Amino acid sequence: MSDQAADLVAELEHLRADAEQRIRAAADGDALQRLRTEYLGRKAGRVTGILKSLPTLEPEARRAVGQAANGAKGAIEQLLAEAEALVAGAPAPAADLTMPSRQAWRGAIHPVRVVVDEICGIFRELGFTRAVGPEAETERNNFTALNFPPEHPALDQHDTFYLGPGTLLRTHTSPVQIRTMEAYRPPIRVTIPGLCYRRDPFDASHAPVFTQIEGLAVDEGITFVDLKAAITFFTRRFFDPRVKVRFRPSFFPFTEPSAEVDVECQICHGSGCPVCKGSGWVEIMGAGMVDPAVFEAVGVDSERYTGWAFGMGIERTAMSRYGINDIRMLFDADMRFHAQFVGNA
Ligand code: DAH
Repeated sequence: MSDQAADLVAELEHLRADAEQRIRAAADGDALQRLRTEYLGRKAGRVTGILKSLPTLEPEARRAVGQAANGAKGAIEQLLAEAEALVAGAPAPAADLTMPSRQAWRGAIHPVRVVVDEICGIFRELGFTRAVGPEAETERNNFTALNFPPEHPALDQHDTFYLGPGTLLRTHTSPVQIRTMEAYRPPIRVTIPGLCYRRDPFDASHAPVFTQIEGLAVDEGITFVDLKAAITFFTRRFFDPRVKVRFRPSFFPFTEPSAEVDVECQICHGSGCPVCKGSGWVEIMGAGMVDPAVFEAVGVDSERYTGWAFGMGIERTAMSRYGINDIRMLFDADMRFHAQFVGNA
């Protein structure tokens, strides 16, 4: 081999080693691109320059230098390709790898919703289907058809949000009894959950919007015994199989006779505590036998059919179940509160 050829082969060996070191040290894709141009660039690349000079060499030197040049070119090519693949997959250099990762938001089922689903599920075992009605109602469905006399205090502007003459935000879920009986013939067995509105203060124990579940059963031969049996079944299922229940005489315009249903306080088990205000009992619902005047308003034959109904508020039940002491928490969008119920689903 001529001296010239030996020098070129040595230079190529040096270029290859030099390139390898610099490629391994390159910080990013831009640096690698510059090295590619410097060694392999078509116009002024250092390896390319030697390849271009091959035709000027003697045939023997051409073969030796050509082999060394192609070897160096291939090796540098491969080192560049490997390094480029590495930087492409690596995080942006500006990323702070000590920063905590972002947490995914996880949804939770609202505690009121959990209780609604559970209660409707218990009545479902007794053959009750589930229905809903609108929150904006007519005065007729909310009051008149339910046998409220026109001078009843609940109709007063102080208790009811009126939307206009004859229309209002329903004050209870009972108007859906009217809608159900006008849409379906008996036998009827239905639970109706939904929001209701009253002009109440918004404090730890009151809210102007709240959830009720209405129940309605209409059929031939239904008696007060059916009402007591179904509600007792429900309380044993929902609270405790040994829970004590009592039915106190009461009054509602749309039921006769009417009752209020109490269960033994689940906190003190009857001995008296602040939750039951010392009485040992907690009221859970109003109930009664559907008044014949209501059947007449919706065109159900009150000689042939009888029925029973109940209405219960849900927020207080959800609060005692989950140990929530301020009703406003149920309406806040505070994620620290709702995160506690993740897993309810
Ligand atoms: N609608 C009544 C209220 O909001 C609750 C109620 C009582 C509903 C007795 C009923 C019932 O269906 O039979 O205070």
